[in-house]
Amino acid sequence: MARELETIDPQERFLEFFKKEKYRQRISQTAITGKESITVDFEELFAFDQRLAERLLEKPDEFLHHADNASYAQLGIEDSEYAEKIEKVTVRIVQLLGKEQLRKLGSKQMGKLVMIEGIVVRATPVRPMVMRAVFKCKRCGTPTPVDQTGAFLRAPFECSDPACRQKGPFEFVQDESTFIDSQDLRLQERPEDLPPGQLPRTLNVKLVGSEIVDLARPGDHVSIVGVVRAIAPSRPGIGKLRTFILHLDANSLEVLGKEPEAALPSPEEEKKILELAKDPWIHRKIMSSIAPSIYGYEHVKEAIMYLLFGGVPKSLPDITVRGEMNALFIGDPGTAKSQLLQYVARVAPRGLYTSGRGTTAAGLTAAVIREKGGSMSLEAGALVLADKGIACIDEMDKMRPEDRVAIHEAMEQHTVSVAKGGIVATLNARTAILAAANPALGRYEPHRTVAENISLPVTILSRFDLIFVLRDVPNKEADEKMTAHILEIHRKGASPVEAPIGSELMRKYVSYAKTIKPVLSRDALKRLGDFYLAMRAASESEGSPVAITARQLESLVRISEARARVALRKEVTAEDAEAAVTIMKRSLEEVGIDVSSYKMDIDLIMTGRPKSVRDRMQIIISVLMGMEKETGIVEKAALLNELESKHQIPRGEVERMIGQLLREGTIYEPREGCLKKT
Ligand SMILES: Nc1ncnc2c1ncn2[C@@H]1O[C@H](COP(=O)(O)OP(=O)(O)OP(=O)(O)O)[C@@H](O)[C@H]1O
Ligand SMILES: [Mg+2]
Ligand SMILES: [Zn+2]
Repeated sequence: MARELETIDPQERFLEFFKKEKYRQRISQTAITGKESITVDFEELFAFDQRLAERLLEKPDEFLHHADNASYAQLGIEDSEYAEKIEKVTVRIVQLLGKEQLRKLGSKQMGKLVMIEGIVVRATPVRPMVMRAVFKCKRCGTPTPVDQTGAFLRAPFECSDPACRQKGPFEFVQDESTFIDSQDLRLQERPEDLPPGQLPRTLNVKLVGSEIVDLARPGDHVSIVGVVRAIAPSRPGIGKLRTFILHLDANSLEVLGKEPEAALPSPEEEKKILELAKDPWIHRKIMSSIAPSIYGYEHVKEAIMYLLFGGVPKSLPDITVRGEMNALFIGDPGTAKSQLLQYVARVAPRGLYTSGRGTTAAGLTAAVIREKGGSMSLEAGALVLADKGIACIDEMDKMRPEDRVAIHEAMEQHTVSVAKGGIVATLNARTAILAAANPALGRYEPHRTVAENISLPVTILSRFDLIFVLRDVPNKEADEKMTAHILEIHRKGASPVEAPIGSELMRKYVSYAKTIKPVLSRDALKRLGDFYLAMRAASESEGSPVAITARQLESLVRISEARARVALRKEVTAEDAEAAVTIMKRSLEEVGIDVSSYKMDIDLIMTGRPKSVRDRMQIIISVLMGMEKETGIVEKAALLNELESKHQIPRGEVERMIGQLLREGTIYEPREGCLKKT
């Protein structure tokens, strides 16, 4: 039987396949659409003739050639006029039965047809490639055509005129040569396919033909069917190396949906999820499931919860408003920032952990890169790769200067635009950002403004929905608890507190919740509006130029929506709004805004220009230090007098601030009624 099949001409077999109604239609369609290729679903070919399909995978060069010829023959029957015009039909195979893993690709797959999924990280512009080059002999002028293969332009061995036969010199005649569009891509493993803790691998892909180039942009998730090739890199003057480099000659390319492959919950898991959502304490449960080994930081974990679930993006005809949130943790060294970020990258449906510098030349946004051959290509950075996911950026203050500029657009508009070296492109970067940064001075200085404490410009800071400061302040009670907690981890080798929801279920819970689009109720709307207007009004009567901005109002909406999502609710309640206001207040307070008295002026505080509270604290400290120089120890009463008479700061306020400075440990009381700077 097998022998019998061998004797059948493969081209005949393909022709039979193309006589199926569906493919006859596809082939005759090409004449109407002006295309020069048809798509074949591998599964259908496999069902038609398993042996033929298998041999196509084994010997793709030979069998794709047969398939091309067969489809062209069928086109001749369907529409002979069009067939004459186009000379060739390319068969593009899609959806092989199984996909090959990028990191498993090796010598075994060389020369085979495989399907690989990945994310495009780099793309060159579309460039014409010579297929058939015509060279003119400089002696007799006879043109000699040479079909081109390989990477380098090849001249003829000798002049084709039998009377001449000179071995050069030749002149390349561009007008008479034939070109085809080509493009090089670099494919990278998707963040969600990556084994934990591994660096992603990449593979170069060559696209040839106007119908396959320019389909995918950096950041796109694609499925490519192609032939694995190996080329020996050559060293000038030495020769070719023995170890080859793999690349893929693409036969077909499909852009996949951008949503992270939602790990769909099983019916049992769905039941569990719905049950959990009914729990009145669901928010607490989720929060205590976030990095349970990290002690404390309740508000930080609450912020992480909102970030994981996210708000609802709004697309209006004229503008779009992001739904993803951005949060920043500024913290002293060793306050578990990196640990929290890595946890989020692990549980988020598409999480990516990177340092501010980025792990590739493209950094956080994108870059135009000059490749070895001198050609330019566009490479996607971390935020583009984490499109529709969460980018966890550690050490954000250390990002590249180019990213500092580009990240503004990425954080608000969710796109990255590049116009450099002849490449003009806009890439999507619809990511939530969780960033961590160290204070510029090593430790957080509570008397300086946020902007002074961190080397990030205000324009970037203001794009964070929530900012928290993680300080490492010695405190007997808290230290004892945390010490016990950490030592317990080391003793047991496990977290002393069990997560109520495991990370696997958590990921599914988040994916499930993200399909819900909660809508603000009237009550919620009123609560958010009232809070926002009160703050605006307060700053107006204070006479300060700009207070809290519209950005904070949008943040409040996002946080409330995220909170409703956690409970799988379609409606944002007043309670959600209240929680959003509470955490927003806390964040504003942490960056130095006095919410209780409504003396807030986000621009002034963040830029560090004089504003009553911060300013007065500085005055108190400098006056105290000045007096200390003279008298050693400063009497509190003397300090109060000095500040009242010379600086017009009311006693009550000074008392209050001294209290705060004492609590923070900036000053201390060596004895009753005396003060000293620490
Ligand atoms: N609250 C905490 N609970 C449990 N472990 C903690 C806590 N704070 C710090 N640690 C532990 O301290 C170590 C240092 O944490 P990590 O590396 O995340 O700090 P970091 O904030 O990133 O510091 P840096 O700013 O220097 O990068 C980790 O092993 C972490 O588990
Ligand atoms: Mg760290
Ligand atoms: Zn010649």
